[in-house]
Amino acid sequence: MVKKSYQWGGGATLGEHSRHKHKILGAYIRRYLQERCRNPHSRCFRLAVVDGFAGGGRYKDGSPGSPVIFAETLLDTIHAINFERTVGGMPKVEVECLMILNDTDPEATRQLPGAVAPCIAKSREADSAVTLRVEYTQGEFEGMVNAFHTLVAGGRYQNVIYNLDQCGHSHVNRTTIARLVKSVRSVEIFLTFAVEALISFLSQKEPERTRKQLEPLGLRPGALEFTNALVSRDEWLGTAERVVFEHFRATAPFVTPFAINNPDGWRYWFMHFACHHRARQVFNNVLHDNSSALAHFGRAGLHMLSYNPAHKDGSLYLFNSGARDAARQQLPDDIARLVSEGGDTIGISKFYSSVYPEPSAHSDDIHNAILNSPDLDVLTPKGNPRRRAHTISSKDTLYRKAQRSFHLPGSTRPQKDKI
Ligand SMILES: C[S@@+](CC[C@H](N)C(=O)[O-])C[C@H]1O[C@@H](n2cnc3c(N)ncnc32)[C@H](O)[C@@H]1O
Repeated sequence: MVKKSYQWGGGATLGEHSRHKHKILGAYIRRYLQERCRNPHSRCFRLAVVDGFAGGGRYKDGSPGSPVIFAETLLDTIHAINFERTVGGMPKVEVECLMILNDTDPEATRQLPGAVAPCIAKSREADSAVTLRVEYTQGEFEGMVNAFHTLVAGGRYQNVIYNLDQCGHSHVNRTTIARLVKSVRSVEIFLTFAVEALISFLSQKEPERTRKQLEPLGLRPGALEFTNALVSRDEWLGTAERVVFEHFRATAPFVTPFAINNPDGWRYWFMHFACHHRARQVFNNVLHDNSSALAHFGRAGLHMLSYNPAHKDGSLYLFNSGARDAARQQLPDDIARLVSEGGDTIGISKFYSSVYPEPSAHSDDIHNAILNSPDLDVLTPKGNPRRRAHTISSKDTLYRKAQRSFHLPGSTRPQKDKI
């Protein structure tokens, strides 16, 4: 019999990697709600949260699990938003949230209502602007997906967040992620998985492709040995990131694959799938604001995954101040290069769409690099130059003033004036 990795009956233990993941999850949900309720004219926001591997809601040491993190963050954030709105003389925003909490373990689903009850009670208090409806289901995620969709569609929710916090790698199909991403207007998905199991699986399913990807590490499919020494090597992190990204990249327009930073090695990955570049931008910023929770190995700058192991020029990026310094050095060149590829102008919206299919630097660093560059200008829709980084808007145009010294690969134009 397969041993269950979570013993909800005796109270489950919260692992170090889950602690990091919870920190990012809570921070992202807060930023997501702030972003979606930003428009002062908006008075109602409707959201469905599907926690497909919800667990029991609380750990042995009293720490909250993902269902409680979602519910508490929702209540606190909307309370804070409405406080600010009231101070500013603006109308409050009401939020209607459907939470679907599912787990295959009957003990976990038995504990869930008790864990979430205080949040439901809080949502029913007279001054609460949150209506919280919770549906509890028990079953294997893949077998339950249609039932989740029926609940979401029945309530006509167009904003959905899925949290797919599986154990291992095999409980969520890639095709399911692709289907969910397209299911309603705005879908975001968090997926956790154990990377060794995924890479072993891929090495059997796609041996030739995986062999090429693992070559720089001296690993051969069929003889994969994920020793502690291997999974703590920086090159392992860079290579695994590329394998994971290639595997999932077709499932959603914006896919972010990063390992959870853990002293025992980069074994667990926490991924974010989204349909819109703004979601990617916010997620990137949350990672930088919670540095060292996740780890990346490769490039800093605009395109963090375009690192070639053969050049051996990558470095460890922990989203902290040292990593941001490296990104700031790289950004002016990366940005000028991207603009030059299309001529001398690019709309900011198009610029974001080109940048964000891959994970990238903090948006503040990107905006500051643009405004501080002697070669670049940002023009407002009326053609006036922008002066402040935080006012750059997606309707603006990025303009390259001078010819750069570098040569674009494949370009027939000679290099011009050096700057
Ligand atoms: C990592 S734990 C979830 C932790 C929870 N999301 C949290 O943050 O507190 C994974 C959970 O998935 C459940 N599980 C395992 N296989 C499943 C499946 N195929 N479908 C749904 N749940 C499953 C386990 O019972 C376990 O509670």
